[in-house]
Amino acid sequence: MGNAIKTVGIIGAGQMGSGIAHVCAVAGYDVRLHDISEDRIKDGLATINGNMARQVSSGKMEDKERESALSRIHAAPAVADLASLDLVIEAATEDETVKRKIFANLCPILNPEAILATNTSSLSITRLASSTDRPERFIGIHFMNPVPIMKLVELVRGIATEDVTFEASRNFVGSLDKTVTVAEDFPAFIVNRILLPMINEAIYTLYEGVGSVEAIDTAMRLGANHPMGPLQLADFIGLDTCLSIMQVLYDGLADSKYRPCPLLVKYVEAGWLGQKTGRGFYDYRGETPVPTR
Ligand SMILES: NC(=O)c1ccc[n+]([C@@H]2O[C@H](COP(=O)([O-])OP(=O)(O)OC[C@H]3O[C@@H](n4cnc5c(N)ncnc54)[C@H](O)[C@@H]3O)[C@@H](O)[C@H]2O)c1
Repeated sequence: MGNAIKTVGIIGAGQMGSGIAHVCAVAGYDVRLHDISEDRIKDGLATINGNMARQVSSGKMEDKERESALSRIHAAPAVADLASLDLVIEAATEDETVKRKIFANLCPILNPEAILATNTSSLSITRLASSTDRPERFIGIHFMNPVPIMKLVELVRGIATEDVTFEASRNFVGSLDKTVTVAEDFPAFIVNRILLPMINEAIYTLYEGVGSVEAIDTAMRLGANHPMGPLQLADFIGLDTCLSIMQVLYDGLADSKYRPCPLLVKYVEAGWLGQKTGRGFYDYRGETPVPTR
């Protein structure tokens, strides 16, 4: 098959899956979008439609382009709808059992030549690959959120990933107008390995009373030129996601420097997960975000 990826299947029509479908369709690929129910697929398609409409109104896309990109995305309510595709990217919930089940259902019907990729942000590519029938054709293609905006994609090979799989994936990512960075298969890869300990340290800084939420975010925005403070960024990522990545680092590298801050644990236990639940290090329920500490 070489580099000839023309058709792309996406499993999971959530935040990431819908973004990946969006950029693939804009780049001209024929896209099949799968999720556990037709309603979830419909929600994903509505998100894509809304995001593309925003790109049109801000002058980043022609309306004609939007129409033709949308016409290339097809709902795939059954796993069997993905059988003949060249590449399938799994972007379902970050749960190893869920992902393994998806691969177990998909592999027997999937074209034996097809590349199978996962968008996991933390799970071992080698371990996921070993649960499939094609570890040599398995790879991590890790998009960043929000996919249509973020330029970077981390490519992560498992121990058995063949060069031909890696090169086809690299060409595919390049065709989406994204920049590839190559990461080895270690917990949290590169971006999250560096970013999450920084966020965790910002939470320790708050926990130890070195500064308030506002002081810490202002310090990093104006003192380190970050576009967003680390606590605001944590709320944007989701505090549950931040905690689970810290736990993956802590468990996977067995080093106490990665221990999740108890204050992060407390916020997650309270259900204050950030923007998505209306409250995290900021309270988003009013007109403007108000720091919670
Ligand atoms: N959110 C981020 O910032 C981010 C960034 C990079 C990578 N990721 C990774 O991308 C993946 C998806 O994350 P998300 O933020 O889009 O999650 P999400 O919760 O928005 O979407 C997950 C989707 O998967 C679907 N799903 C669950 N089980 C399924 C199954 N058996 N078959 C088909 N679909 C199924 C769910 O219905 C849901 O629509 C995860 O592996 C996550 O680690 C997330």
